[in-house]
Amino acid sequence: MPRVLIIGVGSIGERHLRCFQQTGRADVSFVEVNPELRQMMTKRYGVMAAWDNLDEALSHPPDIAVVATPAPYHVVMAQRLVELGVHVLVEKPLSINEDGLDTLAATIHAKGITVGVAYVMRHHPSLQQMRAAIQSGRFGKPVQIVVVSGQHFPLYRPAYRDIYYKEHATGGGAIQDALTHLMNAAEWLVGPVTRLVADADHKVLEGVTVEDTVHVITRHGNVMGSFALNQHQAPNETTITVICERGTARLEWHAHRWRWMTEASGEWHDETIAPLERDALFIAQANAFLDAIEGRTPVACPLAEGRQTLRVNLAALRSVTTGLWQMLGL
Ligand SMILES: NC(=O)c1ccc[n+]([C@@H]2O[C@H](COP(=O)([O-])OP(=O)(O)OC[C@H]3O[C@@H](n4cnc5c(N)ncnc54)[C@H](O)[C@@H]3O)[C@@H](O)[C@H]2O)c1
Repeated sequence: MPRVLIIGVGSIGERHLRCFQQTGRADVSFVEVNPELRQMMTKRYGVMAAWDNLDEALSHPPDIAVVATPAPYHVVMAQRLVELGVHVLVEKPLSINEDGLDTLAATIHAKGITVGVAYVMRHHPSLQQMRAAIQSGRFGKPVQIVVVSGQHFPLYRPAYRDIYYKEHATGGGAIQDALTHLMNAAEWLVGPVTRLVADADHKVLEGVTVEDTVHVITRHGNVMGSFALNQHQAPNETTITVICERGTARLEWHAHRWRWMTEASGEWHDETIAPLERDALFIAQANAFLDAIEGRTPVACPLAEGRQTLRVNLAALRSVTTGLWQMLGL
């Protein structure tokens, strides 16, 4: 079994630890600098090997590492791992700027290492089905994408004031934290963002000043897009609608379905799935990454696509500051 090292077992790292264990296909260990957390996770998951620093953990390099520390560490850690020949699954957002990414891409290429960015929405069965239907051409070409999403973030992350979320420099704010998932999913559905203009503000969340409410207008080549997202509304709802020349497809995350309509003012045709357990997508992500390492499937979100979505994050932040359209030179 491949040895998988989770780096950082905070909120998402703990989930990766549990979900890689759940695959039954990995021997999982972790490194965590916080001593209480290290002790708690060791007990909770019966992990035999837990280190307090990366240097020691890498003295006997694992086969795979999951980088689950805050965003400013992602690229530096990934570079170190790749140089040691370790395959890497790195959390989103890939980074907070593009520093080091050319070197990382070159090292990955030279070493033949697999690196994926953990945009977990790509593992949602309804999104996968909807994408396959759109790509089959049965609705004609996509012309417009409309994304509407919101949830009460403090309910899911009560500590939001004390973690990376509170500052842009550590990967925080709605654009880098939440919208980035939807941008990556949208790029996966209709292609990379080629230009955008964004508006964002802090409206509701107490104890932080970063934006919690965002609007973005995008172009993905010929496809026109719009995104509206907040992190404070009561409903936890996400819809992604892709309007094509001869039909409309819509993901309704909260309703466990995607649906489609081809007749004007016709009926929706529902493609429903059973509600997913909270870990389901992360177990699917872990299995998919192990499959990719075994050469059975391509990695779900390669570095280049994670980097493209990083450029979108950065362009959206620039647009909010300047009030201007941003061109993404593709
Ligand atoms: N995919 C998702 O759904 C999802 C959800 C939450 C967070 N994230 C992303 O995951 C990353 C981490 O977020 P989080 O919420 O888990 O943060 P967190 O603060 O809860 O956890 C980060 C952990 O990393 C540890 N750490 C920091 N430096 C370390 C080092 N040098 N060596 C070992 N451990 C170190 C910290 O002690 C902490 O326990 C962020 O980039 C965030 O955007 C993704």
